[in-house]
Amino acid sequence: MKEYLFESKRLGFRVLDDNDKAFFINLGQDPEVMKYLPAIESEEKLLEKMVSLQEFHRNLGYTFWVVDHKETGDQLGIIGVKPVSFEAFFTPAIEIGWRVAKKFWRQGFAFEAATRCLEFAKEKNIAKEIIAFTSFDNLSSQGVMRKLNMKHIGDFDYPHSEENIKHLAFRIEL
Ligand SMILES: CC(C)(COP(=O)(O)OP(=O)(O)OC[C@H]1O[C@@H](n2cnc3c(N)ncnc32)[C@H](O)[C@@H]1OP(=O)(O)O)[C@@H](O)C(=O)NCCC(=O)NCCS
Repeated sequence: MKEYLFESKRLGFRVLDDNDKAFFINLGQDPEVMKYLPAIESEEKLLEKMVSLQEFHRNLGYTFWVVDHKETGDQLGIIGVKPVSFEAFFTPAIEIGWRVAKKFWRQGFAFEAATRCLEFAKEKNIAKEIIAFTSFDNLSSQGVMRKLNMKHIGDFDYPHSEENIKHLAFRIEL
């Protein structure tokens, strides 16, 4: 039985560890998962990203965590909160982000995990409001934001992306 930082009905949240390397790399190199995200990265870059997510948790007590399906123990996605890493009209700010493995799509996991992460952010007094952003054509991610009752607050050019630059920003007060 794995130990979780916190849980929701079906899900357990943990800091990524060495046993998650293959999952994290597969997720970050899946063309469908990465369709609206900045380019697919090398294994080396993804492992660096994994270390940086571990450091966020060590330093701040929050990050993008790995989310397990508690019943099976399978990892199903990376979801959590962390500071926005670029300047935009809504920064400085804390963002919520999600990436779910394809075989788990459309089963309510992103919504359940994000709802729990927002509760965690409120309980721990991480911020008064949380931002989310995504490209104009990422309708699934916008759907999660709308289902969470986040409000569209404006549009901006996302600096880390060469394609799908136009992004929408959403906000929710905690
Ligand atoms: C976006 C993503 C995380 C959604 O994960 P998910 O677990 O399938 O989402 P949920 O099942 O919780 O869906 C929540 C709501 O989002 C919307 N939604 C999810 N997938 C959708 C799709 N393919 N088309 C339209 N709306 C969609 C729906 O409103 C859904 O509510 P409903 O099922 O009651 O209709 C997943 O598609 C993903 O990982 N995509 C690739 C990575 C990515 O783009 N991340 C976001 C970067 S900003």
